[in-house]
Amino acid sequence: MNFWQIYKNFVRGVSVNRVGKIGVILTTAVVVTFVIFETAQTFGLIRNAYLGLITYLAFPVLFIVGLILIPIGWAKYKKQTGKSTHELLNQRFDADAVQPGLLGSPLVRTIVVFTILNVIILTAASVRMLHFMDSAHFCGTACHTVMNPEWVTYRKSPHARVPCVECHVGEGVNALIKSKLNGVRQMYLAALGIYNTPIPTPVHQLRPARETCEHCHWPEKFYGQRLKTTFSYAMDSLSTPRYTTLNVKIDAGGPGHQPGAHWHIGEANQVTYTSEDDKRLTMIEVHARQADGSIRSYRNRRYDRSANASKPSVMDCIDCHNRATHIYKEAETVVDESIRLGLLDRNLPFIKKEALGALLANYPTQEAAQKGIADRLYNTYKRRFPDAVLKHSAALTQAVTVLQEAYGTYIHPQMKITWGTYPSHIGHRRGLGCFRCHNADMIDPNGASIRHDCTMCHSILAMDSPGRFEFLSEPEQGTPAAQMHQYLREEFLKSKY
Ligand code: HEC
Ligand code: HEC
Ligand code: HEC
Ligand code: HEC
Ligand code: HEC
Repeated sequence: MNFWQIYKNFVRGVSVNRVGKIGVILTTAVVVTFVIFETAQTFGLIRNAYLGLITYLAFPVLFIVGLILIPIGWAKYKKQTGKSTHELLNQRFDADAVQPGLLGSPLVRTIVVFTILNVIILTAASVRMLHFMDSAHFCGTACHTVMNPEWVTYRKSPHARVPCVECHVGEGVNALIKSKLNGVRQMYLAALGIYNTPIPTPVHQLRPARETCEHCHWPEKFYGQRLKTTFSYAMDSLSTPRYTTLNVKIDAGGPGHQPGAHWHIGEANQVTYTSEDDKRLTMIEVHARQADGSIRSYRNRRYDRSANASKPSVMDCIDCHNRATHIYKEAETVVDESIRLGLLDRNLPFIKKEALGALLANYPTQEAAQKGIADRLYNTYKRRFPDAVLKHSAALTQAVTVLQEAYGTYIHPQMKITWGTYPSHIGHRRGLGCFRCHNADMIDPNGASIRHDCTMCHSILAMDSPGRFEFLSEPEQGTPAAQMHQYLREEFLKSKY
């Protein structure tokens, strides 16, 4: 007898009443659909997180329910007929199926084989489920409204290929279980619509940064300096370019190296801090362990209440790189970079000013913004610069598209995320960043503050200047800038590092 025949006979045998039949239909249907979905997913035909959620969460549950229904149906049948199992088996199955053999009757063997098959199917489904729930696609899109901001910014970041769980879930079984329980709780809250808008930051249960980030970036790698030029554009009709060039010191320090930003995570050093309300924005106390083992302590002299001081934290990557992946650019950065890339055309008069105005205007919803940006640009240019519109109409259309896209990426009204909601701690442009600690109020017992002179973290070779290396030019003697030019020439051109 072939497998199909055995299956048919078995199914006929256990489909004793409606409950039994539903059980059989349910299990069979689930397995068939699961196989179809799995195949489609493997070949990339399905990428929808909701479908994935159904396949991996609902299917195993339905499968088990189906399996349980079969014996329930049988028990009911037994009660109804009042006959013994033996009698019923003889009645429902062929005589040779219930004939006892060396390894039990054929029926018992069939049941054993089906049970093994069921266990295999369930295990495979569970493994696939865990794997799927670890995929960035699932984390980013299953709870669309809530996670969409993190998802879109992630996909534009340098870590777009790093799975969420690499950074957000620690190593080991404990961390896995904790994160899954947390995930279930979050899914439940999201379904009920109970969540904070915007999602609060910092994330306290983020797995230890040194464990995650150092998988791919190790501190010994941080040496030397990075020359960085940023382009910005004036608000005039030509959107005139200006340059800021920094030589950013990123060294971790050590023998023969001038320390830079990664000094804090250098092997010999350690910085601990307490902050107000554990938000890591207002620092209260900072302790620095130096290479020689001594500790220097600083206290914020503007802050004498210590009631809501956090527990001490050891400074790690995320205290600076809090926007390593979920990067929310500022409106001005978006516009400057788009001009630089030629996406916004400087042939359109005042494009810097108009583009920035369109991005920063107040719109109640995403739809209103998409329409508002288009209306605003088309109207302004048609009214004020009709010639430019005639000559550069394609550029104007492109400008509208570029700005609409940027607005969609960085602004999320449903999560109350607007420009500046999640400032970066790198630098000190928006929010205090490095100046949270490096400022005149953070003093040691002798009243000396943590250093914060402008050349400690970077040399400034140009600052909103017409040239990229403005401050390295031969100084014009007697002007106020001469001294600074001289200093930079000394430091930069004759630097030993
Ligand atoms: C390269 C590491 C990395 C990856 C990959 C990553 N994150 Fe994050 N995530 C972070 C860091 C760092 C923070 C900010 C933590 C802080 O400031 O305390 C963060 C914060 C968050 C927050 C809190 C809101 C915020 O922006 O501060 C959410 C929600 C989040 N991540 C979800 C995700 C999701 C979903 C994915 C995958 C699609 C993902 N993350 C991938 C590093 C990462
Ligand atoms: C799985 C490996 C991996 C992990 C884990 C990882 N990164 Fe990266 N990161 C990369 C790669 C690869 C790049 C380079 C991308 C490029 O050059 O375009 C990068 C780039 C960066 C950059 C430079 C970004 C830029 O604009 O040039 C920073 C800063 C950074 N990572 C910080 C972090 C931090 C902080 C963490 C921990 C929260 C982290 N990374 C975790 C792989 C990783
Ligand atoms: C005190 C703040 C601070 C801490 C702590 C810190 N960084 Fe950085 N990191 C910086 C700054 C500042 C830069 C330069 C910024 C830039 O070029 O955009 C930088 C640059 C980087 C880069 C790009 C390097 C390159 O070659 O261009 C990577 C990667 C990086 N950091 C990873 C890490 C990792 C991983 C950790 C934790 C082990 C860490 N950082 C800790 C401030 C910090
Ligand atoms: C949580 C507080 C804190 C933050 C935030 C912080 N620092 Fe520091 N930083 C310190 C302390 C404390 C020292 C050591 C001061 C001492 O030795 O007395 C230090 C030392 C340094 C040094 C080494 C100075 C030297 O010559 O020995 C550099 C460079 C530096 N920080 C750059 C940065 C940059 C860049 C940022 C922002 C990206 C930053 N720091 C953010 C606390 C902080
Ligand atoms: C504790 C370290 C630190 C100190 C002190 C410091 N800066 Fe910075 N600054 C940074 C870092 C880090 C960045 C970001 C570099 C990057 O984007 O890679 C930055 C960025 C800048 C920029 C470019 C900002 C932009 O438009 O993007 C300017 C200009 C600047 N700093 C000027 C100054 C001046 C002027 C001083 C003295 C008052 C100063 N900085 C002191 C760390 C420091």
